Amino acid sequence: MPEDGMDSEHRFAFLVHPRGFNDIYLTFPFTRFLPKWLVRKVFLLIGPMVVGKVYGLKTSDGKTAKGEIITVPMTARDMLENRELAAREVEGCIRLAEKRGARMVGLGSLTSVVVGGGVDVVGKFKTKITNGNALTVFMAYQGIRAVCEKKGIDMKTAQFAIVGASGSTGSGISKMLIRDGGARSELIMIGRTPSHLESLSNEMQEFFPDAKVKITNDMTETIHADVVIVATSAEGAILKAENLKKNAVVYDVTQPQNVTRSIMDGRPDLLVVDGAITKLPEGVGYTVNMGLVKGESFSCMAETMLLGLEKYPEDFCIGRVTMEKIDTISILAESYGFKPAPLRSWGKII
Ligand SMILES: NC(=O)c1ccc[n+]([C@@H]2O[C@H](COP(=O)([O-])OP(=O)(O)OC[C@H]3O[C@@H](n4cnc5c(N)ncnc54)[C@H](OP(=O)(O)O)[C@@H]3O)[C@@H](O)[C@H]2O)c1
Repeated sequence: MPEDGMDSEHRFAFLVHPRGFNDIYLTFPFTRFLPKWLVRKVFLLIGPMVVGKVYGLKTSDGKTAKGEIITVPMTARDMLENRELAAREVEGCIRLAEKRGARMVGLGSLTSVVVGGGVDVVGKFKTKITNGNALTVFMAYQGIRAVCEKKGIDMKTAQFAIVGASGSTGSGISKMLIRDGGARSELIMIGRTPSHLESLSNEMQEFFPDAKVKITNDMTETIHADVVIVATSAEGAILKAENLKKNAVVYDVTQPQNVTRSIMDGRPDLLVVDGAITKLPEGVGYTVNMGLVKGESFSCMAETMLLGLEKYPEDFCIGRVTMEKIDTISILAESYGFKPAPLRSWGKII
């Protein structure tokens, strides 16, 4: 029986982390008055914490799916600077979730990145794991389609560049652009680590032998693209305005965001889109302020909700996203009424 005495076969947990100190101040306003070193220290001493819950989720047979939000006690920057410690904290969060009865745990944002997209934790616990990236890819693809339609960009002939293409989300979006978007122009796939780029190249050749794909670690290659998709796990701004074509669309999936508002300074021609956000069904929400509009959620969290509703019995999306998982989650999303959120740029409807 879980710690709070409530049993539910549909229990799940979603792991988060503060993107920076502002997120900590939103949840714990008093910490604003303390020095940062002290906040860091106290948070690490406390360890994983339940900071909120998901409400309003009902299965088709009227049962309630209960979801808790558990935070790693480290900011994005601290997690990337000390990945080993961050991975241990993620394991601590999964243990806590399991103790509280979760049958599925979703790894939000960098909690997935520091454990290899789930590869390093899968099989270590009874609870099942997902990195949430299958729905993230699906919703991102729908968002890219919608913004292309709005801007009169023909997806078949447009030039796309994906930064962070060798990652779980980036590689999935690339595959969707080829399979469903019918991309005929060369797809520019930009990554960082040569061995990851090589394995990406092999994977793309195996699945899409006829697709025109360029794999590179040259960040300036974005200059050729009408649409630049950003999907890296870097902590700060990595995209530069001087490497963007006139009237380019930037579709930013990252959390914390890799694109800062200053990119628009002197470049009013650019359009930056908040990527991969899901509109939840009426009445569904969560109690943590993640900086999104009410009724909308990051897609990795929405994926975890869907798997909780379904009582999904196995690990779901682990490591790189497969087309099979994208298709499965898109069917679930449709059946439960999870939809792409309206297009926004830094929170404002486009
Ligand atoms: N909006 C949403 O709902 C949602 C959902 C899920 C994830 N996300 C966000 O999506 C992003 C990607 O997540 P993921 O799970 O796909 O991560 P991932 O699998 O770890 O992939 C990250 C990619 O970024 C590259 N990268 C990391 N730092 C870089 C840098 N400084 N410069 C250039 N490339 C760099 C990595 O290259 P290497 O090959 O060198 O590792 C890798 O290709 C994260 O920001 C995550 O928070 C958002």
